[in-house]
Amino acid sequence: MKKEEFFKEVINNSKGPLEGIKVLEIGGMHTAPMCGMVLADLGAEIIKVEQPEGELVRYAGPFLEGKPPQETSTYFLSINRNKKGITINMRHPEGQEIFRDLAAKVDVLIQNFKPGTMARWRVGYDDIKRLNPKIVYISISMFGQYGPYHKRPGFDPLAQAMGGIMYVTGMPGEMPLRTGNAIVDNSTGWMAAIGALSALLYRKETGKGQHVDISLLDNTVYMSDFGLMAAAHTNYHWVRNGNRHPSVSPFNTYQTKDGYIFIIIGPDSHWAKFCRIMGREDLIADPRCKTVRDRGANAEMIDQLTAQWAKGKTVEEIMNIFLENEIPAAPIWSHKDILTNEHVQERGMVAEVDHPAAGRVKLQGIPWKHSLTPGKVRTPAPTLGQHTTEILTNWLGYDQEMISSLKERRAI
Ligand SMILES: CC(C)(COP(=O)(O)OP(=O)(O)OC[C@H]1O[C@@H](n2cnc3c(N)ncnc32)[C@H](O)[C@@H]1OP(=O)(O)O)[C@@H](O)C(=O)NCCC(=O)NCCS
Repeated sequence: MKKEEFFKEVINNSKGPLEGIKVLEIGGMHTAPMCGMVLADLGAEIIKVEQPEGELVRYAGPFLEGKPPQETSTYFLSINRNKKGITINMRHPEGQEIFRDLAAKVDVLIQNFKPGTMARWRVGYDDIKRLNPKIVYISISMFGQYGPYHKRPGFDPLAQAMGGIMYVTGMPGEMPLRTGNAIVDNSTGWMAAIGALSALLYRKETGKGQHVDISLLDNTVYMSDFGLMAAAHTNYHWVRNGNRHPSVSPFNTYQTKDGYIFIIIGPDSHWAKFCRIMGREDLIADPRCKTVRDRGANAEMIDQLTAQWAKGKTVEEIMNIFLENEIPAAPIWSHKDILTNEHVQERGMVAEVDHPAAGRVKLQGIPWKHSLTPGKVRTPAPTLGQHTTEILTNWLGYDQEMISSLKERRAI
């Protein structure tokens, strides 16, 4: 199908399927901002609240060329586009009051402080529910809002450590590894967005809002694949096994003449094709490797056979052979490779936006393709406090004098 065919019914001026939904985001780093970005990318109007000095991630590089540094962090810019930004000092009673007034006007509130912090500022779920009974209030934390560990703070790698990912990631017998990117922070943000969307659907039917409690550890356990169940009911002990799959083979990164390639042979029909490619038709019906189960049980032998075959060819040669035979395989791309790839570009996954300090910049695109109401990267992340005046004026009716005086008192 051609791109134009997929989008033939597109509504041109739509911001996305969530247009009209209002969201307030506070907290920072990665999890709450990722949840906010999902909703923003899908068209919601989102106000991001930062402390007057700006959130920590603004000061984390790598930085774009341009000034000042708090506006040029690629980390901050890549997870906060499509949002409006306001500064509020939550330690200040007047700051708390402004936050409550804004929270009374939104559909969704997202926060990722330690459990208890929002209540200490008198903006916890019960405080906000009194003002806005229909609020969908999303709380993201390391361990959740209740449970023996709930007061403890945390970060992505700690959830990877305790949630089973690290135990099974790395080479056999070597140090446990985390994933290269922040898989738990990212997916916790997505899970929080799913929590928000499902609660919004429920609210549409019943008129009732609710508190949604999302924890990094719960989310990591949810990603256990079969590990938890196998540990509970079988003798299988899942250990670090490099890039190999616990029960499918070949399933690994193989060295070629000019780089690595990932090969997976799952279905028996693909195995038969692969045997023909290798000139080993005798193995198609061999009892050691006839079915996926047989191949998993003899992974060592299958892995060696595949490695032997791959090392005499280039990545491109193997890709071409596999493409002809409709068997999936993949070269290992860097982010630089991704930037220039024709398919990634056609899918709109390299978006561009005008940045006030650095000019036109590239960043990741929108993964959901809605045929009627696709989301888009409309604006870069806000500069520090960029929309403070606009929001206090348009949402709460403050005048310039009130805003200046709040600034003087360091409430915003
Ligand atoms: C990230 C984390 C470890 C930080 O812990 P912390 O800073 O010690 O504690 P809190 O979460 O209670 O945050 C309070 C701090 O937020 C800061 N803050 C953020 N926004 C603020 C605002 N608008 N106004 C005032 N203070 C603000 C202040 O420094 C405040 O410290 P203070 O209470 O001493 O004044 C903790 O928030 C946490 O565990 N979050 C849940 C899991 C998570 O999302 N982790 C990050 C993954 S990327």
